Amino acid sequence: MNKPHVFLANQVPTDVLSYISTHCEYTLWDSKKPLTKEELKKALKSVDGALLTGHGADADLVKDCNNLKVISTATVGYDRFDPKGLAAHDVLLTHTPYVLDETVADLLFGLILSGTRRIAELHEHVKAGKWSKETSQHSLYGQDVHQKTLGIIGMGRIGEKIVHRAKEGFDMSILYHNRSSRKEVEETYGAKKVELNTLLEESDIVVLMVPLTDETKHLIGQEELAKMKPTALLVNGARGPVVDESALIEALENKEIFGAALDVFEQEPLPNNHPFLNLENVTLTPHIGSATAATREAMAMRAAENLVAGALGKTPQDIVKA
Ligand code: DGY
Repeated sequence: MNKPHVFLANQVPTDVLSYISTHCEYTLWDSKKPLTKEELKKALKSVDGALLTGHGADADLVKDCNNLKVISTATVGYDRFDPKGLAAHDVLLTHTPYVLDETVADLLFGLILSGTRRIAELHEHVKAGKWSKETSQHSLYGQDVHQKTLGIIGMGRIGEKIVHRAKEGFDMSILYHNRSSRKEVEETYGAKKVELNTLLEESDIVVLMVPLTDETKHLIGQEELAKMKPTALLVNGARGPVVDESALIEALENKEIFGAALDVFEQEPLPNNHPFLNLENVTLTPHIGSATAATREAMAMRAAENLVAGALGKTPQDIVKA
């Protein structure tokens, strides 16, 4: 039997490539060349599956791809893709849940600690040689984390891992806002489901973990920021557009909230003249939630398994609901 053919828009680790090549012929895009939509369309025309991490796909892209059965992304978030549009052309979309949950939760806790205790900001201060005998102790104060209230917007699997760390490690009280109730999180960690406004008003640390959809775009804007405590920290581990960045910049400039710690942005990479770069009360990381070697390799392998299964006409394990 002829092997199916897949298109790989991304480099993958050697063992992942060897797994793919056992089951499929492949074409690997030269990562030094940007892949335009026209080139991608052309590449997809003759293949059975594609790995498109960091790209996107909709009905228009796949409408003339008669063999294409699956598009796989090595990410858990799939906001760049239109699962319904792909399904209309019988193309499955797969993603990589589960394998990154603990790693992302680790990073989120890093952001929480950096934002509250001003670690990134004061690190810059020390490096710039500004720590001197004249430095007042008061100017170095941050906010406590232990026994404070953590509010999580979007209580999915990663939210739950953050809650575990918050409760077991830092004895925090947990509020959450989510479409559905999470009984096991309530029972295990004493988490309380509340309205968005209550969460914003009562939390010391507000963490965003919702997927980006039409409903969550600019979920946090001027009005929502105004409801937060002046001592509170906003942490975004979801997607940049969940926050209205201009409103956040204003709130940070006017010290309406204590600070923000952000791993995701409306525009990535962050432009080098972005106002965030001139603010002291932000911790900024370059979208590294899942960026450890072990986790990225696990994601690449899971994406490859989904790709191969779909290209062979089998049912992949992580199909995104259309
Ligand atoms: C994910 O997997 O969705 C990460 O945020 C990387 O995009």
